[in-house]
Amino acid sequence: MMDAEPRDSEPLGFAFRRTPWMFRCLGEADREPVWGPGRFVPYGDIPLEPAAAILSYGCGVFEGLKAERGEDDRIRLFRVDANAARFRRSAERIGLPAFPEERFLAAVEGLVARSADLVPPAGAGTFYVRPLMHGTEPLLGHAAPRRFAATVYGCPVGDYFRSRDGVRLLAVDAARAAPGGTGSAKAIGNYAGALAWRRRAAERGLDDVLFLDAAGTGRISETAGSNFFGILEGGEIVTPPLDDTILAGITRDSAIRVARELLGLEVLERPLSIDEMLSRGVGAFCTGTAWTVVPVLALEATACRRDFEPSEVAGRIRQAIRGIQSGARPDPFGWTREVPSIRSKHDTEATHRTDTGGDAAEEAM
Ligand SMILES: Cc1ncc(COP(=O)(O)O)c(C=O)c1O
Repeated sequence: MMDAEPRDSEPLGFAFRRTPWMFRCLGEADREPVWGPGRFVPYGDIPLEPAAAILSYGCGVFEGLKAERGEDDRIRLFRVDANAARFRRSAERIGLPAFPEERFLAAVEGLVARSADLVPPAGAGTFYVRPLMHGTEPLLGHAAPRRFAATVYGCPVGDYFRSRDGVRLLAVDAARAAPGGTGSAKAIGNYAGALAWRRRAAERGLDDVLFLDAAGTGRISETAGSNFFGILEGGEIVTPPLDDTILAGITRDSAIRVARELLGLEVLERPLSIDEMLSRGVGAFCTGTAWTVVPVLALEATACRRDFEPSEVAGRIRQAIRGIQSGARPDPFGWTREVPSIRSKHDTEATHRTDTGGDAAEEAM
């Protein structure tokens, strides 16, 4: 059953809805090339044995990116090549085979093209694409799986925070990832640990958690799913430098480049302690694909709480990035990529038949 009605009149939130298509590709370590032919198939359950490596050992990585329809009716992907590269790096970090970047691109483009009717009208939302990869081999002992699946699905989404003009964060004296760990990979194992902390934040009426470093020095790391920027007295914009505990956000990089190269602002990538943020901070914002650029309105820590006005700088950076993503303003960085349309329904069905024709028995496993 599909949940996504084309051009729904309800405003979209950030919630999953089933859509007609997904991309599937199976891989085997002992085969050359490792990855078999990809196929676009109807969205639905995927075969997985209870002993599959993903279920015991969390051998999985994922991505998240958006396609957006502009006022010119063209559909654009934003920095999909950066997601392809991060998907590869994440997989390599946890011992899964890289999914070739050009195939990642083709899979994402193919899905969006097939789902074009579900890409919301200009200004009404975006089409969120979720690529993932996991080890499917049944394994009892802890070992690198030798069979894998790559899957890409997507759905239309609206704003992450529907009626809010910013986020309120709970700074916890806890780390999301440790040095030497997998924090810089978009590995599934990095995410469940944040849920109990997020519940604690929700109980206090806050939206998310701001994690500190694992060494206990009080340095700000990032939230459960976004990067953090502080604005200090005098207008200094500071974001923690990337290391192996922080995800190298594509929106983080975009915000830094837009601030420096389009808005002429200085952005420092340097350690920022929670104490410095609470004593010298005048504003803050978070960046991420789902959130884009969101002002931080409150930062609550053990001893005190600071409330901030919505950051004007965050607004300018957000506006510039949103303009590029939607095609409303020029794209001096070459970040957007137009999705070629699939010519007709007939072509789509022909492609579907070809794509599913290969190893259908494996799909039905
Ligand atoms: C832990 C974490 N940090 C930061 C981000 C922001 O990254 P991006 O801007 O690439 O979405 C994400 C989301 O992908 C994330 O999961």
